[in-house]
Amino acid sequence: MSDKVISDYNGYDYKKIFWEDADREYEDQADRMAIRKLLPKRMDKFADIGGGYGRLANEYLKRAHTVIIFDYSKSELEQAKEIYGDRIETRAGDIYKLPFKDNELDGLMMVRVTHHLKDMNAAIAELYRVLKPGGVAVIEVANKRTLPKMARYVTGRSKVNPFDHKVANYKNIAANGFYNYHPKYVENIFDKTGFSIERVLSVSNFRSKGLKKIFGTKNLVKMEDGAQKLLAPIRFAPSIYYKLRKPTE
Ligand SMILES: C[S@@+](CC[C@H](N)C(=O)[O-])C[C@H]1O[C@@H](n2cnc3c(N)ncnc32)[C@H](O)[C@@H]1O
Repeated sequence: MSDKVISDYNGYDYKKIFWEDADREYEDQADRMAIRKLLPKRMDKFADIGGGYGRLANEYLKRAHTVIIFDYSKSELEQAKEIYGDRIETRAGDIYKLPFKDNELDGLMMVRVTHHLKDMNAAIAELYRVLKPGGVAVIEVANKRTLPKMARYVTGRSKVNPFDHKVANYKNIAANGFYNYHPKYVENIFDKTGFSIERVLSVSNFRSKGLKKIFGTKNLVKMEDGAQKLLAPIRFAPSIYYKLRKPTE
């Protein structure tokens, strides 16, 4: 096991506990909306990195000839196989040491994983390595610089400074890292690694129990659609989505 922290989902029913038994229809729809806007329409070989049980598979199955769901958790991958059968391949391993050859993939996606990553430099370097020149990576980043986090900091309810570029570790739990990143910090890493940033979206802008109660999920989803592009320049939301491209030499 890597010394860089793996959040172990083996035996945890992520599908049921986190999605089906919780009121997260809005968050699920917001993710899908962003992916539809960012993923290329046609790819040969595609991998969902940290794809879990394949929650988002319906967004990429039609777009790629070969689909691989990659995850550390064997139980998540077994669940994915039960759901999608021969339509997907699965591969188990650690993001920091991806079991793919250099330049193997035409496209990849990594959603709701960065909050488990202690070493973003190493993870992004691996994603870059396995992508073909000209290939696209859609990466969702857990943002530390959101309005609620700013409010908690300025009113003294949180010691985590959302304005500095340091990696925020909200729960100091070695087994279940919960890291948040400043957009400038990750954008520097993308740049340094060699990726070009083609598009940015602000996603899950209205992630709040209160707003769900007042407006209802359906209305929030409608508002989210326009807000993803509108609020991207200020990197507003808890999830920032990046469409990155590995340049052709
Ligand atoms: C919050 S889930 C997200 C699953 C899926 N991407 C989604 O959005 O529904 C995080 C996933 O990342 C995987 N994961 C965390 N750290 C990992 C690592 N170092 N290597 C491989 N997978 C990892 C977990 O096993 C888990 O399935």
